[in-house]
Amino acid sequence: MYQDHQASVSPPGRPKVKRAPSGGREPHEVGNRGGSFALGNHSSVASIHAMAPLRVGLLGLGTVGAGTYTVLQRNAEVIAARTGRRIEIAMVAVRNLARAARLLGPEVVLVDDPFLVVNHPDTDVVVEVIGGTTLARELVLQAIANGKHVVTANKALLAVHGSEIFAAAQAQGVVVAYEGAVAVSIPIIKALREGLTANRIEWIAGIINGTTNYILSEMKAKGVSFADALADAQRLGYAEADPAFDVEGIDAAHKLTLLASNAFGVPVQFDKVHVEGITQLDSADIAFAERLGYCVKLLGIAKRNAQGLELRVHPTLIAADHLLAHVNGPMNAVMVKSDAAGVTMYYGAGAGSEQTASAVIADLVDLCRVSDLAHRHRVPSLAFQPGAIAELPVLAVEDVETVYYLRLDIAKLSRTLPKLMACFADAKVGVQQLDVLEHPSDPELNAVVLLTEPTQERVLRGAIAELEQWPTVMGFAKTIRMEGLC
Ligand SMILES: NC(=O)c1ccc[n+]([C@@H]2O[C@H](COP(=O)([O-])OP(=O)(O)OC[C@H]3O[C@@H](n4cnc5c(N)ncnc54)[C@H](OP(=O)(O)O)[C@@H]3O)[C@@H](O)[C@H]2O)c1
Repeated sequence: MYQDHQASVSPPGRPKVKRAPSGGREPHEVGNRGGSFALGNHSSVASIHAMAPLRVGLLGLGTVGAGTYTVLQRNAEVIAARTGRRIEIAMVAVRNLARAARLLGPEVVLVDDPFLVVNHPDTDVVVEVIGGTTLARELVLQAIANGKHVVTANKALLAVHGSEIFAAAQAQGVVVAYEGAVAVSIPIIKALREGLTANRIEWIAGIINGTTNYILSEMKAKGVSFADALADAQRLGYAEADPAFDVEGIDAAHKLTLLASNAFGVPVQFDKVHVEGITQLDSADIAFAERLGYCVKLLGIAKRNAQGLELRVHPTLIAADHLLAHVNGPMNAVMVKSDAAGVTMYYGAGAGSEQTASAVIADLVDLCRVSDLAHRHRVPSLAFQPGAIAELPVLAVEDVETVYYLRLDIAKLSRTLPKLMACFADAKVGVQQLDVLEHPSDPELNAVVLLTEPTQERVLRGAIAELEQWPTVMGFAKTIRMEGLC
């Protein structure tokens, strides 16, 4: 169905999209709703007007879609001045037409069937900001099959179906761009694909989920529980009503999957990421870690070592004076260690309407510049030429070696502590620091908090399994992996 006041989409056969009878801007007019950016001399303005605009079909007009439309309108002049070509939203698909019609100008054709957009011959690019992985996959593949470039902010889609989608795009000679899918306002995909292209990358570590970073920041600053911090995040709009994707680390794992492919030239392989969220974190451990000089962050870590690749998302202890420890609230940051550039760090908002739009439009601007080029002259989708993308062994988390924070709640301290040290010595788990602290809720117990030497996870788990059998060790040991990241 079409919005009443809009013209309908013509059937296939390269027809023109009809526009509103009155009040609509002419298709070749550069928008000027955002002030007076100087476009330069008359000949450059004329050349911008002479070029056919990049015509965009937008799937979704929610948080990201509306931001994309708004920023494209507001900054049309400056974007055209940089691009040398205008970017025009020609068609939009949503479910709720009435709501969308209130935002869109009458020149935009509004439909409630997204396949009309991907099949329409007059759109050059499809921007997919519907979300989800089922319909979005069908739409993106259909757009590619129709020879259209695709821009998406959908990390779940690419993390799960990326290999299929990038292969289809390669076969069709079109681009699939996705800067908005990872740490939105931070141009990290561009940094990896272009700025750091001379480097061998050693590791990437990122705070790449704003919801969990907000929750952890609140737990640390106010000593509140996970549940209270989550409720606060939901009240402020930093967390969804169903926060599972965020707090269980899945959203961060989707983004890490894409970062790892760009950094190491491996296929998109979400199923190989080890994922732990923050739901089991106790605010007492955050406070104990602080006493030891550390801070707890949910990090996505992709690291290359002699055995292969580590791909993991989990709560991580980092030194309180580390740069990442100062990234608070809903902000994101990504740190990259590479052989020539050294350590570089990127910081910015990880979500938001115009913040994500900024990345989506940057991809559209890139498309304006490269859409006429042969595929081999474009920056490859995953930073490496498709033929150079190769599997690396991904380490099982049991084989990963790190320093561990470990907390045990212990009764009869004087008897249990020597046995504990003997157990660790037998298992060859070195201990670099040990504190005996008051238990947060039970005066009969002590909290024994220690940092191990670097230890393989399976070795530590073996020792812990034995300790947890003892009658003087209460409940389960709490462990948090630690990273130096320097
Ligand atoms: N929000 C962010 O800050 C952010 C940041 C980075 C990446 N992303 C990603 O960007 C994507 C979009 O997120 P969002 O927050 O903008 O989502 P959203 O606010 O829920 O908007 C989704 C839009 O898609 C439309 N839609 C959904 N199903 C449709 C269907 N079957 N047919 C036609 N239209 C349909 C909705 O239309 P109606 O409104 O009419 O239902 C709505 O306009 C997701 O993949 C998300 O992960 C979001």
